[in-house]
Amino acid sequence: MAVAGSAIGLANIWRFPYLVGKNGGAAFILVYIFFLALIGFPVLVAEIAIGRKTLLNPSGALRKLGGPLWSSGGKLMILTGFLVSSFYSVVAGWILGYFIEALQGNVSNFTSTIEAQNTFLSLIASPYWGLCFHFLFLLFCAAVLYLGVREGIEKGTKIMMPILFVVLILLVIKGISLDNSSDAITFLLSPDWSVLTKGAILAALGQAFFTLSLGQGTMITYGSYLSKKESIIKTCIPVILMDLVVSLLAAVAVFTIAFSVGIQPDSGPGLIFHTLPWVFSQLSGGYLIAVAFFLLVLLAAMTSEISALEPLIAYLCDEKGFSRHKAVMWAATGAFITGIPSALSYGILKNWTIDSMPILDFMDYLCSSILIPIGGLLAVAFVGWRWKVSNAIQEIKVGSLESFEKHRWLTPYFKISFQFGAPIFIILILMNALGLFG
Ligand code: ALA
Repeated sequence: MAVAGSAIGLANIWRFPYLVGKNGGAAFILVYIFFLALIGFPVLVAEIAIGRKTLLNPSGALRKLGGPLWSSGGKLMILTGFLVSSFYSVVAGWILGYFIEALQGNVSNFTSTIEAQNTFLSLIASPYWGLCFHFLFLLFCAAVLYLGVREGIEKGTKIMMPILFVVLILLVIKGISLDNSSDAITFLLSPDWSVLTKGAILAALGQAFFTLSLGQGTMITYGSYLSKKESIIKTCIPVILMDLVVSLLAAVAVFTIAFSVGIQPDSGPGLIFHTLPWVFSQLSGGYLIAVAFFLLVLLAAMTSEISALEPLIAYLCDEKGFSRHKAVMWAATGAFITGIPSALSYGILKNWTIDSMPILDFMDYLCSSILIPIGGLLAVAFVGWRWKVSNAIQEIKVGSLESFEKHRWLTPYFKISFQFGAPIFIILILMNALGLFG
């Protein structure tokens, strides 16, 4: 459940719909599902197996199995997780801010979508609003990390996930009943391959990795907490399926609503903040649904943020001798400071762009399209070529023997994926994104 809590978060509800909108709809979704199944799954299994074998943080784990050079790869993953936590907390802070607004009845009383859009833009332009909620969100996460991860996260996730599903289904039902919902469904179901750019393919891979919290040390660290009695296979497959279902439900809800009120599907990171508050305003009981929705997304974001910070905390404790409390304080303070430019990027720093992107968008791009795929590549190449596939499969079989006996294809599938399939795909996509194929 902690792995599911890490995977299901803002990437599904906030990021997936706006990426689908920006990258042309159905073709992007199909490429994304392909990457999730054929690259995300083996990389997730590889990372959890590395962690469970060594019982160490990513840097220590790769050192133990592969030597000091590989340990630097582990450090890069920890750095990636930390950078993710710094900008993720900014967007999660917006959700927290919207939750407070929802409690006051301010996001369920819009009379037009323009009003909802303007409210969002003016809130994120205010330096105090963005910074204050970025800070508060990290403070809550630090409190959970401080008290200990497993009990809190697992129990919370078990209660929260089913409710999140119910709220999403309610939104989907409402969305489908609106005018023009068939246009939205066509957008999500009829692929137009001509709109699929190189950037979109990279974004689909990045999203598959980002949503599963791969390449950032999280799954190695969580693997190190997983009992030998548990089946890695039976842990990973339901997580990937749940993650996909939440993303698809969120996309259907957001696009049916967006199409019905003429919001452009490619309106970027603000998409859910423009569309959903408007529909909450139209629903009877909209106040309660708005409060429940933002609360649940907030909790989903917390379990993901915590999991992005955990590799650094584990590293500081294992390798630098920090107490857990001191490590939590350093990691959370560092994430707050590093996230400040992202928090101000739609307000007083809006003229500071990197490669024409606001700082927050740049951090998202840097992590999800570059650093996370590199981290995933390191993990899977490590398993395929350094630790050796036979050792990895031996570890994966512990607790999963039954699955391997029932599904004989699993062993050759992992061999091919770890050594060739996943690494080659990731390298080709990165090269393609760098323009090496012209
Ligand atoms: N895996 C996390 C999410 O989906 C980052 O939100």
